[in-house]
Amino acid sequence: TILVLDFGSQYSHLITRRLRELNVYCEMLPCTQKLVELGWNPKGVILSGGPYSVYWDDAPHVDPAVFDLDVPILGICYGLQEIAWHFGKNVLAGEKREYGHAYLKVDRHGDGEAGGHVDKLFAGLEDDMEVWMSHGDKLSHLPDDFITVATTSNAPFAGMAHKTKKYYGIQFHPEVTHTPQGKVVLKNFAVDICQAQTNWTMDKFVDQEIERIRKLVGDKGQVIGAVSGGVDSTVAAKLMKEAIGDRFHAVLVDNGVLRLDEAKQVKETLTAGLGINLTVIDASDRFLGRLKGVTDDPEKKRKIIGNTFIEVFQETAKKIAEDARGSDKAGDIEWLLQGTLYPDVIESISFKGPSATIKTHHNVGGLPKDMNLKLIEPLRELFKDEVRELGKNLGIPEDLVWRHPFPGPGIAIRILGEVTPEQVRIAREADAIFIEEIKAAGLYRQISQAFAALLPVKAVGVMGDKRVHDQVIALRAVETTDFMTADWFPFDGAFLKKVSRRIVNEVNGVCRVVYDITSKPPGTIEME
Ligand code: XMP
Repeated sequence: TILVLDFGSQYSHLITRRLRELNVYCEMLPCTQKLVELGWNPKGVILSGGPYSVYWDDAPHVDPAVFDLDVPILGICYGLQEIAWHFGKNVLAGEKREYGHAYLKVDRHGDGEAGGHVDKLFAGLEDDMEVWMSHGDKLSHLPDDFITVATTSNAPFAGMAHKTKKYYGIQFHPEVTHTPQGKVVLKNFAVDICQAQTNWTMDKFVDQEIERIRKLVGDKGQVIGAVSGGVDSTVAAKLMKEAIGDRFHAVLVDNGVLRLDEAKQVKETLTAGLGINLTVIDASDRFLGRLKGVTDDPEKKRKIIGNTFIEVFQETAKKIAEDARGSDKAGDIEWLLQGTLYPDVIESISFKGPSATIKTHHNVGGLPKDMNLKLIEPLRELFKDEVRELGKNLGIPEDLVWRHPFPGPGIAIRILGEVTPEQVRIAREADAIFIEEIKAAGLYRQISQAFAALLPVKAVGVMGDKRVHDQVIALRAVETTDFMTADWFPFDGAFLKKVSRRIVNEVNGVCRVVYDITSKPPGTIEME
């Protein structure tokens, strides 16, 4: 395992991401981590970048014990400066801040002076390479016993290495894709220099995680968790099923604003297909009853749906717990399954500043503490694409593994204006046609999220020689990697024509279809 110590750079999590891609297991912890409290021995340590200057009075510094571990250390950007600071405080504010592309020249030393290890970081790479810089400070001169291993026109010490110990510092960011060869540098460090194992695979993860869950929950422990039909909750549920069988209880709350036939399909897939012990609660009436009359306040819709969900989930959990109580095969339900992914965890552990206390992770999806359940989060080390891979390995159908994300408040926030059973019908039917055609055209995976929304206006049309005054469907389809920014998908005209014709012909109450060509920003992905 490689230990990544995070100084709060916006790129820190990419370091772990790249190492995982190399099948190297790593863990990221805040830079303030005390090494005596670590509990395991890293094969190497990476110090990340960070937004501070090492010479500030309140700058964060690494536990000096890291230099007693006798393992290789790589400092990236702030990390390089942190190493230099430790070895002699040779860091100054740069005259020129340096952001963006730069050309790195590698200095090779051969076997001579330093026994060859200093060249290892750039082994197998060209002497000139494009790198990504983002820093204000730079080294004023090399610390004692270090030599230069790379330069740029603005940074004479863009790369340094200790003459005898395997300590390296680089000013550029190897973890970003703007440094095309960056992954080779990380591989050289982790695999060749640290000799970390490259055995982090999903199969191995499954075995380990099942073992961990069994130990954690014990022979009789029972677990409950909500599922939505999305990939995260399904994968988490399947993993629980593999680990503890029917002592895991999945709950699907039908809130009346799921996609067309979704509750039915999820039930089939999870029970018949995956053998998961699932309870489906149809609470549509309760949800729709409370949404009645809410016309122009999307946040209110969200709140009603969120609160009603908690209420229904709690009632159900209580019932299941009573039924499941006290047999000699099983104990009480003490655990709540949560499909938290690594990016959420990073958000809560990443280092936020010298004086900031590190937030602990409490993503219980708004479930109240008085449920008194302990959290179990089997996906907390995984990125989304790893969850998908895991899903495939666990036999979850492709369809579900690649499913677009779907918001908790469901199509209630895609029905602009009041949510009534009739509006739900229209929005659902139009959405089902749109998605069906996207899949038929082979575009589903290229698109990150797509749906039909129902606008709160009526327009005039002519259908079968008759004048009609009916509603308008807006189609939305976006491409994005992070859902923070997104671009609308450029369908061809023939595709849109077909979808429009089908929706107007097949969905009663719709006489017009429009396509939303707003990117995010300024639009959001959802319309409410
Ligand atoms: P926006 O509309 O903010 O959406 O661009 C970004 C992503 O978040 C999803 N989204 C939600 N998910 N509850 C959720 O669980 C919500 O209230 C909610 N609002 C938006 C949206 O579907 C998109 O993937």
